[in-house]
Amino acid sequence: MTLLETIKQNAKQLNKTIVLPEGTEDRTLKAADEIIAEKLANIILIGNQQEIKEKAKSFNLQNIEKAKIVDPINHEKKDAYADLMVEIRKSKGLTKAEALTLLEDPLYLATIMIKAGDADGEVAGARNATGDVLRPAFQYVKTLPGITVVSGAFIMILPEKTYGENGMLVFADCAVHPDPDAKQLAEIAVSTAKTTKAITGMEPRVAMLSFSTKGSAKHPMVDKVVEATRLAQIAAPEFLFDGELQADAAIVEAIGKSKAPNSKIAGNANVLVFPDLQSGNIAYKLVQRMANAEAIGPILQGMAAPINDLSRGCSISDIVNLVAITASQASGKM
Ligand code: ACO
Repeated sequence: MTLLETIKQNAKQLNKTIVLPEGTEDRTLKAADEIIAEKLANIILIGNQQEIKEKAKSFNLQNIEKAKIVDPINHEKKDAYADLMVEIRKSKGLTKAEALTLLEDPLYLATIMIKAGDADGEVAGARNATGDVLRPAFQYVKTLPGITVVSGAFIMILPEKTYGENGMLVFADCAVHPDPDAKQLAEIAVSTAKTTKAITGMEPRVAMLSFSTKGSAKHPMVDKVVEATRLAQIAAPEFLFDGELQADAAIVEAIGKSKAPNSKIAGNANVLVFPDLQSGNIAYKLVQRMANAEAIGPILQGMAAPINDLSRGCSISDIVNLVAITASQASGKM
């Protein structure tokens, strides 16, 4: 069974409820139909009931009637949800009138549904930019205890089986936090090690990447990676972290041996942690396109409930897969 087949099998057992705030978006609607047919999760679609029903009919979708449809403008829980929002944001001075307006935005409504216990997770981003999906999540669902930074990991599955674990590697942060300091980078490394173990079953060997290997270059950017490696090792001694390493020293055995002969990871890393979002995002997209890798994610790590963001170029199967991952994360075992 492939990793995705295993994740889907797992999701089927869990019977979780996932909210899709972009309920009137064509690919989302088609994906919802498939998810319901495959029994991967219960689905809540946010959007105008009539528009969703008409679209479902025009696409000949047979399963949408089994989804719960919530109209953001007018629904029975609007008042209770607004009270909950005011309670959560009272330190920021949010008024009830402001909360009622925000609730008309499906992306806010979805996060409050999770907070109120009416949904277990959310998948969005087919129509909305990453920042717009994440902001309400940061404000209302917030981070896990002890975590200050949410980040995004990709499971990269390469046709070339030489690198990582039989061609599988995890990359982070490729999606969320633009410019982490050393402490935040250490947190991202630890979260990524945990995600790797939970989702892929691999024992993580985490390379903290830089343009320098073990002191070959001197620069404050390198110092940040060295310090982050030290902090990650202290925070999670159960995992292997090493840095700073260049990408070739991290994944190519002969180069790892020559540039970092004492490293337990060099040449054999299966997790690559990038020093900032520019390098992480560029790297995953290049590997996806130029090496024909399958990129599963971004899987958001560190959020108190699973909320995952799609690329706006996503396919129907990307949405189906991310819903299965989100349902599995909601079990708390990932
Ligand atoms: N983790 C946890 N909380 C965060 C994070 C984070 N990484 N970043 C911001 N927050 C919180 C803040 O603490 C704040 O909370 P508060 O309102 O309770 O005080 C709230 O979120 C808003 O903070 P801002 O600093 O105003 O954050 P802003 O909304 O400006 O930016 C955002 C956050 C949108 C995620 C920004 O960092 C961003 O745009 N990141 C890049 C996303 C992106 O474009 N990724 C690439 C595309 S994805 C892809 O290619 C697959």
